[in-house]
Amino acid sequence: MTNGWLIAKEGFEPADIELHGSKYLLGNGFMGYRGTMEEYGAKQLVAVNLAGFFDLAENTDWRESVNAPNPLYTVIIAGDTELNLSCIKPIKHRQILDIKNGIHKRETTFFVCGANITVKAERFVSMSRKNILALRYTVIADKDVMITVKTGIDKNIWDISGRHLSYVNEVSEDNYAELICKTVQLKNRLRVFEKIIGVKNATNGNLLHIFNIDLKANKEFEFTKLGGIYHSESLDNSKTDFLNAVNSGYDVLKSEHIAVWENIWETSDVVIEGDDEAQQALRYSIYHLCSIAPHNTDRCGIPARGLSGQVYKGAAFWDTEMFMLPFFQFTDKNAARNLLMYRVNTLPGAKRKANEFGFEGAFFAWESQETGDDACTLFNVNDIFTNRPLRTYFKDKQIHISADIVFAMWDYCRTTDDYSLLLDGGLNLMYECLRFFYTYSCFKPYKNRYELLDVIGPDEYHERVNNNAFTNIMVKHAADIFLLALSRVREISPQYFKEFNKDLDWAYDFAEKLYVPQPDENGIIEQFDGYFQLEDVTPEVLKARELKENEYWGGHGLASTTRTLKQADVVMMLNVFRNEYSTVIKKANWEFYEPYTEHGSSLSACAYAIVAAEIGYIDWAYNYFMKTAKVDLTGNTKQYVGSQYIGGTHPAANGGAWNTAVLGFAGVSFTDNILDISPRLPKKWRSMKFKLNWKGDKLSITITGEQVKVCGITDTRVTVYGKEYSG
Ligand code: BGC
Repeated sequence: MTNGWLIAKEGFEPADIELHGSKYLLGNGFMGYRGTMEEYGAKQLVAVNLAGFFDLAENTDWRESVNAPNPLYTVIIAGDTELNLSCIKPIKHRQILDIKNGIHKRETTFFVCGANITVKAERFVSMSRKNILALRYTVIADKDVMITVKTGIDKNIWDISGRHLSYVNEVSEDNYAELICKTVQLKNRLRVFEKIIGVKNATNGNLLHIFNIDLKANKEFEFTKLGGIYHSESLDNSKTDFLNAVNSGYDVLKSEHIAVWENIWETSDVVIEGDDEAQQALRYSIYHLCSIAPHNTDRCGIPARGLSGQVYKGAAFWDTEMFMLPFFQFTDKNAARNLLMYRVNTLPGAKRKANEFGFEGAFFAWESQETGDDACTLFNVNDIFTNRPLRTYFKDKQIHISADIVFAMWDYCRTTDDYSLLLDGGLNLMYECLRFFYTYSCFKPYKNRYELLDVIGPDEYHERVNNNAFTNIMVKHAADIFLLALSRVREISPQYFKEFNKDLDWAYDFAEKLYVPQPDENGIIEQFDGYFQLEDVTPEVLKARELKENEYWGGHGLASTTRTLKQADVVMMLNVFRNEYSTVIKKANWEFYEPYTEHGSSLSACAYAIVAAEIGYIDWAYNYFMKTAKVDLTGNTKQYVGSQYIGGTHPAANGGAWNTAVLGFAGVSFTDNILDISPRLPKKWRSMKFKLNWKGDKLSITITGEQVKVCGITDTRVTVYGKEYSG
């Protein structure tokens, strides 16, 4: 298993094409490149998926991320046969993703024209130059054989909802190709470059270079090629930038790229001794998070399916703040800040949304793209029986998103000690979110409390419920956080505080009187008003009631009148507010809700894992951890909701895997000033080693059994099992 750094598969099954596209994904935060073969096209789901570049699919109201034409397209022709793995059974085939270096490799032997012809390809999406992709392509045969190579830009694009690009101009000359495209709705430009190196006598035309090679037995023929993708501000100087990369050449680009990955692993790796499978799955999860993080921009979030395609419209959800942000705030402050500044930058969209629904303040998009206007449609799922769009209320009612963002901002400030975020728009964002909640809430004078009615909590199978416990407590915290942040700003910038100058009587009243559902006499917190009265059935029972595969259980579907929930809801709340509930309450609720939870979202298992680790159910925690950490390795997730395709990678689960390992098993938690480490490792894990940035200190933590060693503390405070750490 080579320490978990290589993800590899020998042999080929046509059924793997889709899964492997996601599983072997490359990315650099600017683009994702699916794990497809060089000779594949749209039918085999090739995608160069772009972060933060969106447009309407032609003739639809569906706005989604744009896939670019593929500049690495390459195929060999021997005789009349195209060596395409999806059409010809290979003699041998191997696909490898090296997650240490962000490099994809394949080696395939085809038997054609009486010869074994082997294609070897190595490629990467540059971490050091965000617009660049690079490919080294090698062919070798065991007999003399004439082959033709066809390589260039493939403009036949896999779009899941409709066309996004029209083509404005094409150039094909001197082993160079260039394609200028325009998006159909906003007419934004996209420029794609390609250049092959090490080839003579190619015919150039139609964005392709075609050349013949008289391949001699056992003599390799090799060439390299580079691709460049540019849009938005990177369009300026795009050709110069691309040609600079061409001048540098494949090998230089490769070593620069590897050097960046080395730095990434230096701060983000988690080393587990005693459990190779967990080690690999966790590293693989970290790999995904790092390859999709917005390293260079604060203008885009992380899509719910990473950069693996257009599913979920390429939009960012609460997944980022509640599942991925802990990893970034502890290992890559720059990426964490970019993600939060993206929310500050999209505040105008959130204000428009609040206004559209008749409220004040900021109601953040459930599905957020570049402007912050909500990409979620009112009909987000198709009914599988009638094929009619179903009215869903995710957009209108999943109000907790605004509180999740406030919560994440404050955690970022506390863990990094970077309170400047508040002055850069963070405090104002918090204020606007609170204003939204205040105007959304309903004050009941006879109970002297504010309530949040008609909402959807994390469990999307129960729409339009009252006083969802998760939502209410998140909003209560958002209110408290805003007031704390305000006093913090008063300390760090009296001038800013003075200018902020708002009437806040309502905010104090709201923070004090917002209702938060409490445990009942059995210690159970009701998920929402009336949940206990619902039919007492589990997901297994519902499964047996299904009339059709992929039937949607939400809306007015099967789960809506029962206690079956889609994903962790009360348990998510216990996970977020770990310091506020006793072990007894956590146990009671974990045991009560676990049998009712379908885990129909990949966000669910990690919440159950973390709480299980805290209450000492280590085996349960381990199973849920492995389910989370392996989600993109096994592909064991739902592929359809109704008739909607939802395949791809699962960054929230990737974040959830890190959270479970570090916050769950290593038991890292924090208050304003103290970081505590109270480990409870799974039996097999002899030791665990990782790094954390804690208020500017770069801590190295080694856990062996119950022994904890921390290096790198300067003037911060760290406790172990609650006792001050003294080295
Ligand atoms: C989940 C949401 C999640 C979304 C994107 C849905 O299936 O219910 O909680 O935000 O997927 O990952």
